[in-house]
This record gives sequence, C-alpha cells and structure tokens, in this order.
Amino acid sequence: MNNSKAILIGSDHAGYALKEFVKAYLTELQLPVEDCGVNSEASVDYSDIGLQVAQKISDDTGRRGILICGTGIGMSIAANRIKSVRAALCNDLFSAAMSRRHNDANLLVMGGRVIGTELAKEIVRVWLDTAFEGGRHQRRIEKLDR
Ligand code: RB5
Repeated sequence: MNNSKAILIGSDHAGYALKEFVKAYLTELQLPVEDCGVNSEASVDYSDIGLQVAQKISDDTGRRGILICGTGIGMSIAANRIKSVRAALCNDLFSAAMSRRHNDANLLVMGGRVIGTELAKEIVRVWLDTAFEGGRHQRRIEKLDR
C-alpha cells in the first residue's frame, strides 16, 4: 500500500478482539494506525463508531479504514450512509480483492463473530495490496457521489 496516512480502525464491542488483533498486525507491517475505539468489550452502538470513522474518510478521501462489528453488517450500513465512503463487507478473500479492483473500496468491514484471526489477516493484506482498476469502474463509482 502506497499511502503514508494512518489507517483508521474502529469496532464495537463485538469486534473489539479482532480489531486489537488487526491493529497489531498492521503495526507488525509497520503501517501507521489511528485507533478510533472502542477500547473494551463493554456494549456500545456500532453506529457511533461506524459513522465517526466513515466521516473521517469522507473528510479526507485519501484515507482508508477498517471497521469491525459482530457480523460487519451494521458497520457497513452505517458507513455507506456517508458521502464518498465505499464500505465493503468482506469476510472472504475474493470479495476483499474485488472490492478494491472494481469498487475502489475505501473502508474494509469484517465480522468479528464470522471469521477467525488468520483469515482476517489475509483479508486485510489482500485488501491493502490490491489496486483499483479504474476505467469503466471509475465511471460507476462517480455516479454514486452525484
Ligand atoms: C452487537 O451485538 C451486534 O449486533 C453488532 O456487532 C453487529 O453485528 C451489528 O450489525
């Protein structure tokens, strides 16, 4: 990944354990991370963190983020309400690659209660390393912001 801006990361209580794991993995890769919480497994509303992280990406579209809740569904729904955010729920490697190649996803969402740590690591690696193909896909994503 060619981006020196810190990767935003956030979760609710159900995604907390996987968030901590992914954060450690990103640090191991020497990638800067900005942790937007939560900081424990105390119950919170996924919408709060999801909207907050998505807004940061909307304010600076060069940034990328990772959100984790129990299924990944709530975080995806929340984040995709924010303009210019393309949040992709990827609990498998094919979706992770395609969300970058075709959708230029700027937010990766995973389900902490759906996938294990090793798969999550691979998903993150593939998602960060896969480039957007542009071309006809550029036209399609531009229509979303109009
Ligand atoms: C929390 O129990 C759970 O509902 C949340 O993490 C998420 O899966 C919602 O979509």
